[in-house]
Amino acid sequence: MANTEADSSLMKKIVSLCKRRGFLFQSSEIYGGLNGFWDYGPLGVELKRNIKRAWWQDMVTGHDDLNVVENAPSVFSMTGIDSTIIMHPQIWKCSGHYDLFHDYMVDCKQSKRRYRHDQIVGRWVEAKGQKIFVTTLASEACESEIESKALKFFKLRAKNKEDLVYSSEVIDLISVEETTSVLAPEAKALDTLTSPREFNLMFKTTVGALGGEDDVAFLRPETAQGIFVNFKNVIDSTRFRLPLGIAQIGKSFRNEITPRNFTFRSREFEQMEIEFFCHPDDSAKWYSYWRDRRLSWYHTMGISEKSLIMREHHADELAHYSIGTADIEYAFPFLPEGEYGELEGVAHRGDFDLRSHMEGKLDEKSNPLEVQLNEKGKPKYRGSGKDLQYRDDLTNEKYTPHVIEPSAGADRATLAFLCEAYYEDEAPDENGKMQLRTVMRFHPRIAPIKAAVFPLVKKDEFQSKTARDIYLALKREFNVFYDETAAIGKRYRRQDEAGTPYCITVDGDSVTDQSVTIRERDSLEQIRIPIDSVVSEIRNRILG
Ligand code: GAP
Repeated sequence: MANTEADSSLMKKIVSLCKRRGFLFQSSEIYGGLNGFWDYGPLGVELKRNIKRAWWQDMVTGHDDLNVVENAPSVFSMTGIDSTIIMHPQIWKCSGHYDLFHDYMVDCKQSKRRYRHDQIVGRWVEAKGQKIFVTTLASEACESEIESKALKFFKLRAKNKEDLVYSSEVIDLISVEETTSVLAPEAKALDTLTSPREFNLMFKTTVGALGGEDDVAFLRPETAQGIFVNFKNVIDSTRFRLPLGIAQIGKSFRNEITPRNFTFRSREFEQMEIEFFCHPDDSAKWYSYWRDRRLSWYHTMGISEKSLIMREHHADELAHYSIGTADIEYAFPFLPEGEYGELEGVAHRGDFDLRSHMEGKLDEKSNPLEVQLNEKGKPKYRGSGKDLQYRDDLTNEKYTPHVIEPSAGADRATLAFLCEAYYEDEAPDENGKMQLRTVMRFHPRIAPIKAAVFPLVKKDEFQSKTARDIYLALKREFNVFYDETAAIGKRYRRQDEAGTPYCITVDGDSVTDQSVTIRERDSLEQIRIPIDSVVSEIRNRILG
């Protein structure tokens, strides 16, 4: 069964496997859990680390800075930083997060549930002479959910569903003015929602012992600002010239109103961001380069073309400084069929961020590109006041670079790779009988365990010693697993569920032919190779 069925039962199986096999656990579970926070278990931590490592290798350390790489407009450089989570509070004022990084929330007085206003959708339904707006959450299977809620409200049986008259398509709650007729997602009565209230998503903390209003600081809601404020440091301390991409992987925090869909929307998560600085005249070309490159990265890491789309934002969705933003979206199984959820955004940000950190953001609504003057007619900087422009030492041109920002979520990528990998098929058991098996078909680069080593018979001294030696030799380079318990078929199945691409078995023939069997997880193909070439064989297969 391929994972295209996009249903919640598939998601339930994935969530259950994640817990059972140690990929993901609810944070603070023994105390009842903490909503929006997740812990990675022994397999999960390896998977997520491998994803981050592959991203860093492919985007930063492995980047060819001597030649024009495929489809790139010119030669360019890539480097990285690791900035702090808590930064000067003024950074968030200049970036706009302090004033503008908020959602609107509504509370249900009856169910005591809290929702993001923009995530509630519904339909006008009429029956028994009354017209009400029946709501549900946007990511749920709307039509059937709305119908069953309307039937319940009007006390009608399913066979009488023809009595319901729909007078609209599914629309957003935001567009509904008549709130007294709204049936909230988990309410039984009408008009239980409060008016929408603004809610800033940044977590607050205090720095220092006094803890007064002046000591308030924020946990970063994105890693990007750490890169912008260090742009000049990187240029001044290295010999990099533009075009240059600066990458960072790290934790970000958002006090999401409704964390949901497993790790998809969490309150603590990791981002993998690149700020790519270039000449304004070339920024359109670089924007299209990064869009395409980032999409193809997911394909090369094993996400099928049909599960991934690139959604270019409409002109009216764009910020005033941007000439383009595209979301790379994945068909997560918790979404209704045909819908996709954001995995990564690629944004053309113009010179907005560097200018804001030079000149300051003036107030909530004003254009940050206009410099505010003080009473003496001098620029009244609320930014750093530092010159963050770039001087090209070859042309002597000085300019504020434009920025292209490919911004990915490490946890969302991990979730997408988990969903993509989940597969059910049939494989022969130890008696040769075909049995249902669950297999996690991870790309070998990101698989948590690269190989498992088994002696066929535990009590055979040669088999056991040879298997241990192979295990220790592989362990110097990879995360590998040794298992001598249970029947061989059972051992294979355990590794299939963990997504281990190769199982190496030492058997009775190994003593005479000095060879072992390597079984490939997806094709179930088994080949015989000499014991002394096991490490190079596994290395070649994993690194390609
Ligand atoms: N600097 C740009 C920026 O932060 P974003 O679209 O807000 O843009 C980028 O976030 C990526 O971070 C998203 O595409 C997603 O993968 C991840 N992300 C954002 N909020 C998240 C959350 N609450 N939980 C998990 N991942 C999240």
